[in-house]
Amino acid sequence: MSNKTLRVKVWRGRTSGDLVSYDVPRFDNQTVLDVVMYIQRNLQPDLAFRYACRVGMCGSCAMSVNGKARWTCRTHVSKVAVDEELEIAPLSNLPVIKDLATNMEQFFDKWAEAKGQFKGERTRSDDFSKVSPQSERRTSADAGIECIGCGVCYSSCDVVTWRPDYLGPAAMNRAWTLMNDERDVEGVERLRAVAGDAGCHSCHTQGSCTERCPKQLSPTAGIAGLKRLVMKAAIEGKL
Ligand code: SF4
Ligand code: SF4
Ligand code: FES
Repeated sequence: MSNKTLRVKVWRGRTSGDLVSYDVPRFDNQTVLDVVMYIQRNLQPDLAFRYACRVGMCGSCAMSVNGKARWTCRTHVSKVAVDEELEIAPLSNLPVIKDLATNMEQFFDKWAEAKGQFKGERTRSDDFSKVSPQSERRTSADAGIECIGCGVCYSSCDVVTWRPDYLGPAAMNRAWTLMNDERDVEGVERLRAVAGDAGCHSCHTQGSCTERCPKQLSPTAGIAGLKRLVMKAAIEGKL
């Protein structure tokens, strides 16, 4: 058993609630998710939070840790604790279901609003599309494809805070990825979807989303790419 202790404050409640303090044994290589699980298993069995894979793939474990959104299963306590203290809260910019669990519905609805679904035109009797791995569009699609839908960028974006209808960085990163997919046929409709007031032109490009993304993606670059495509399509009279 460890003889060091971590002092942890955890949000309990919904829109209204309070930070509640717990003492948790401190271990080497302990992650923030380990801390939350210790509290639920040993101190507060009704603590609500979400996780699944514990290896940085599912995107479900994001929380606010000492004021910054992070994936908790891959965040070591040693990197974020200040004087052996942690404050853990639900992600910002999303409604709280209970304690550390947020409702991600609006986050994923915005992926759909930004036309974040692939739409092809080939049938199963057609040959495979041949996309050169070296092509510029394929390289751009690759740069954004590893999004795990964790919501860290969305929670870190102050434009989402100011105007809740803003599509946000993850949905537009997805739209940009699909705009670079040579097999997709819904480009013009997608550009219309991201061109409005709540779309790419509301991004101030300061890059909190890119700074915080745990997968080192750059939604900021993708949104800048969408701005260029929207401008080009408008000049060509396609929008
Ligand atoms: S760069 Fe744009 S999308 Fe990213 S956090 Fe800032 S306003 Fe939000
Ligand atoms: S872009 Fe990055 S921070 Fe945003 S949802 Fe995807 S993986 Fe998470
Ligand atoms: S639990 Fe799956 S990404 Fe953290």
